[in-house]
Amino acid sequence: MSASEAAIDQAEGLRRIVNPKPVKVIAVSSGKGGVGKTNVSANLAVALAKQDQEVMLLDADMGLANVDVLLGLNPAYDLSHVINGERTLEEVIVDGPSNVKIVPGSSGISNMANLTAVEHAGLINAFSELGHVIDVLVVDTGAGISESVINFCCASQEVVVVVCDEPASITDAYAFIKVMSREHNIDRFQVLANMAHTPREGRELFLKLSKATDRFLDVMLTFMGSIPYDTQLRKAVQHQRAVVDAFPRSPSAQALKRLARQVIEWPESSTSGGQLEFFVERLINSETGSLEVVE
Ligand SMILES: Nc1ncnc2c1ncn2[C@@H]1O[C@H](COP(=O)(O)OP(=O)(O)OP(=O)(O)O)[C@@H](O)[C@H]1O
Ligand SMILES: [Mg+2]
Repeated sequence: MSASEAAIDQAEGLRRIVNPKPVKVIAVSSGKGGVGKTNVSANLAVALAKQDQEVMLLDADMGLANVDVLLGLNPAYDLSHVINGERTLEEVIVDGPSNVKIVPGSSGISNMANLTAVEHAGLINAFSELGHVIDVLVVDTGAGISESVINFCCASQEVVVVVCDEPASITDAYAFIKVMSREHNIDRFQVLANMAHTPREGRELFLKLSKATDRFLDVMLTFMGSIPYDTQLRKAVQHQRAVVDAFPRSPSAQALKRLARQVIEWPESSTSGGQLEFFVERLINSETGSLEVVE
C-alpha cells in the first residue's frame, strides 16, 4: 500500500467511527523506570472496572511491554500484529480481571515514532473500528522520555507522573515535565507518589517536585495522592494478579480504590477530543506532525 492509499484508508477508518461516548484517556508516566507505572496502570484499570467503569488498558511500553505478565495473561497477539495488519484490534484484545479490555503491548518492535504511514493507518483503523464503548482508557507508558512516551502523553487528556522517594525519581520526573511543557505544550500533570513509607512522605515528594517546577517551569501540578509501600502488592506481583483483586483490603489496594474514585470524578473532556478515535488521531498527528487525513 502506498502512503496516499494509506491516508485514504485512514479517512475511511475515521468515517466508521461509532463510539460516541467521551473517553477519559489517562497516560501513566514517570521519567524514571521501576517506580510502579505498570502496577499503577493495571490496578487503577481494575479498580475503575470494579466501580462500574468500562475500561481499556493499553500497554504502550513499546520496549518492554509487561502488563500481560503482571496480570498473568498469555496473549497470542499484541499491538505489533495490529500495526502490521495481521490482526484486528478486536482480535488482540484480551479480557483481564473485572472485564478490563487489555491491548497487549509488543516487546522488541521499533518504537512508535518509527511507524510508517501504512502502519499508522493500520492503527487508526483498528481503534476507529472498535465496537466497545469505553469510559476510561489507561495507557501504561515506558520509562524515559522517548518519542513514543511523549506521543502517548500528548495524545492523553491527563498525564499522571508517578514518583517515589528516590532522588533520581524526582530529577527524572522534573526532566520529563520540563520536556513535555517546553517542547510539547503540556502544562498540566497529576503527581502520584508511590511506595510511600509514611502518609506524609507522598505530599513531601510532591512539594519537592512542585517547588522545582514552580521556580523554573510554567506548569500546574496537582497532587493526585499516594500509594503506600506494601509487601502485599509485591506478593500480588509474584502471583501475577492485581493487588486490588488479590488483596483488596491491603493498604495499596485501598489507596488505589480511592484513586479510582477520584478519577471517576475528573471532568470529562468537553471537546470531541475525548473520544477514542481522537486519541489515536492526536497520537498520529503528534508523531508525524504532518500526516494528513484525506477526506
Ligand atoms: N506500592 C508498592 N509497594 C511495594 N512495591 C511496589 C509498589 N509499587 C510497585 N512496586 C514494585 O516495584 C517494582 C516495579 O514496578 P512496576 O513494574 O510497576 O514499575 P514500572 O514503573 O512500570 O517499571 P518500568 O519503568 O520498568 O516499566 C515491582 O517489582 C513492584 O513489585
Ligand atoms: Mg512498566
